[in-house]
Amino acid sequence: MSDTDAWIYLTELKDLPQNVPRLFYPKGLGMLLLHQGAEVFALSNRCRHMGCALASGTLEGDLIRCPCHDWAFDVRTGELIISREIRLPMYPTRLEGGKVFVRLED
Ligand code: FES
Repeated sequence: MSDTDAWIYLTELKDLPQNVPRLFYPKGLGMLLLHQGAEVFALSNRCRHMGCALASGTLEGDLIRCPCHDWAFDVRTGELIISREIRLPMYPTRLEGGKVFVRLED
């Protein structure tokens, strides 16, 4: 597989409003995209606690709160704020020509 093949197109950047989590399923994997400032972050939709969907959670600045038991994760790093060694899987993103691409594996 070439490097180009590893990137998956998800959406147009203009269709990704600032600070509004959007859910995608590249290759069946639930993934939240967050457009914040000039960056787009991609993180797993499944909470590390008991797997609730973070897409139903609340975004507060750089934090997303799980709707089930209120765990809060930093959307820039995936870290649980009260215990930073616990992290959500994060995925590299690439912006090119107004398009958003994500990579599932390194
Ligand atoms: S499942 Fe997310 S805090 Fe419990």
